[in-house]
Amino acid sequence: MTPRTPEDVRAFYDAHRTVRQYRTDEHGEPLPLPAEHLDVILHAAQRAPTDATAQLYSLIHLRDPLVRAQVAALTTNAHIATASEAFVVCADVRRTARVLEGSGRTPGHWPAVAVHFGIGDAVMAGTNLLTAAEMLGYLGCWIGGVLNGLDGILDLLRLPPGVLPFAALTIGTPAEAAPYRPRVPRPLVVHTDAYREGSDEEISEATAVMNPIAARGDQPGDWARLLGAYFAAGGGMEKREPHLVAALRRQGLWAGERPLAQEVSRSGL
Ligand SMILES: Cc1cc2nc3c(=O)[nH]c(=O)nc-3n(C[C@H](O)[C@H](O)[C@H](O)COP(=O)(O)O)c2cc1C
Repeated sequence: MTPRTPEDVRAFYDAHRTVRQYRTDEHGEPLPLPAEHLDVILHAAQRAPTDATAQLYSLIHLRDPLVRAQVAALTTNAHIATASEAFVVCADVRRTARVLEGSGRTPGHWPAVAVHFGIGDAVMAGTNLLTAAEMLGYLGCWIGGVLNGLDGILDLLRLPPGVLPFAALTIGTPAEAAPYRPRVPRPLVVHTDAYREGSDEEISEATAVMNPIAARGDQPGDWARLLGAYFAAGGGMEKREPHLVAALRRQGLWAGERPLAQEVSRSGL
């Protein structure tokens, strides 16, 4: 394949926008992607590289309008109901365990590794899917809001042990003009040979660069305030934490401590 020029590649990635409003039919129902577009974005997802050849992920394609509506409510992201296509991107070590069992082997105990590589594989597949969709002229949105309704999503999508939703992903033709959103300056993100702690000035400059990402209407942006709402003490992530821990336990992916039964069998009792 003819290599693209650096300008082409830059222009492609500069055209990336997260969008949350999509073109629908006249009744507000989703306009599904043409079959060959859907097929090729799923092909792209499966062409992602994968740890140890295992492909430790699964995509749940949300097609039933009722399921879409429920996932939209559980994630508090309404566009899941109206996007052309919607997926829940999951880490999945169950299929690998089944291959092992099917060949007479006993799956090992590696819940931390499962989360590490399972989420990695899921993200790589989802990123390929979104990038392919963008190559076709669509835009999309990742939805970490799955953590707002994890237990309900596990039930609704009947996710078995070993399968953990990472995020949802919507794709469609944009019905909004989303802004170009800034990124942290490269010297704070790309380190040479060893990690370099940025200076206080660099952190404060980066915050100024990022402020527009938090602007709403006439209100000037305050990125640190936005980060605070998510990550500061009392913020949204602290609220999500116990639910994620509960889901990891429920799905057999909690590495904090071994289940009692296993301790007992290991100690030979
Ligand atoms: C893992 C992940 C989770 C996200 N979760 C949400 C979400 O729940 N709701 C939402 O509206 N946007 C969500 N986003 C989109 C981000 O807000 C968006 O990517 C970011 O603001 C940068 O904007 P840009 O993609 O347009 O450059 C998520 C993005 C990622 C990568």
